Amino acid sequence: MGKIFAIMSGKGGVGKSTLAAGLAEYYARLGKTAVLLDGDTGLRCADLMLNAQDQVLYDLGDVVKGACSLDQALVRVNGIGGLCLLAAPQLMKPSDLKAKEMGRLITRLAEEKDVVILDAPAGIGRGLKNLLGAAAEPVIVATADDVSVRDAEKLGAMLKEKEEPRPVIVFNRVEPALVRRGVMASPKALALALDMPLMGIVPESKAVYRALLRHQTVLNCGDEQVISAIAVLAKRLLGQEAALPEYIPSPILRFFYRGGDRP
Ligand SMILES: Nc1ncnc2c1ncn2[C@@H]1O[C@H](COP(=O)(O)OP(=O)(O)OP(=O)(O)O)[C@@H](O)[C@H]1O
Ligand SMILES: [Mg+2]
Repeated sequence: MGKIFAIMSGKGGVGKSTLAAGLAEYYARLGKTAVLLDGDTGLRCADLMLNAQDQVLYDLGDVVKGACSLDQALVRVNGIGGLCLLAAPQLMKPSDLKAKEMGRLITRLAEEKDVVILDAPAGIGRGLKNLLGAAAEPVIVATADDVSVRDAEKLGAMLKEKEEPRPVIVFNRVEPALVRRGVMASPKALALALDMPLMGIVPESKAVYRALLRHQTVLNCGDEQVISAIAVLAKRLLGQEAALPEYIPSPILRFFYRGGDRP
């Protein structure tokens, strides 16, 4: 049985799909069989991120309805052996799917593949609940600002209520210089306050959006710090040892930039 990671967030736009696609590609490049399931019903995006938009014939809605087989719906991503995509339905709403059916589908995928990455929609609505029917390990993505952190806390509380496996947290778009100046909170301190194990810290980089413009994943963005942050995250999720970068707030810099008004 393969591992199942559900990449989710309270607040939208924090980088879930970016990290989900990067993780799926990373595991495939390691020689594992990996599938990226686009769980954002109605707002498909993973096909564009993997440059596989022209290969999508069926989606996960077709599999659940029995309109095609799982094998027919799995898109073999060109150039990355071992990586498959299961696209989100474009014309369905989250309420058209059932958590039980989705749970069965995700479990089937995990029986066939080494790693299943679920790219969840933002928030704590029906779209997310549809993905929680299988025993996925929840990975909450947040940015290091109060709005995103509050929403991550709310999502974490909801998962704990449902006795899901304990969520872990990843901070994306972290700016080391701002953390050192005390303008941006330190990911380690935030994870501690949220009482969630910190699995990854991914830096902010213009290269990430530029990769998206080229329909390339974050692993091909060319920024070594971002690529190595994805590798560290991928290893830690598998329980392997990989150190997180130390971004320590400096009291001297904090004094000069006091008040956070000069990011
Ligand atoms: N580390 C980063 N540095 C710079 N830009 C980033 C980084 N991570 C993600 N982005 C950019 O942020 C934007 C949102 O990313 P993405 O679509 O992955 O977020 P999301 O959480 O999946 O959004 P949604 O909630 O709508 O599904 C994209 O333009 C992406 O290129
Ligand atoms: Mg997304």
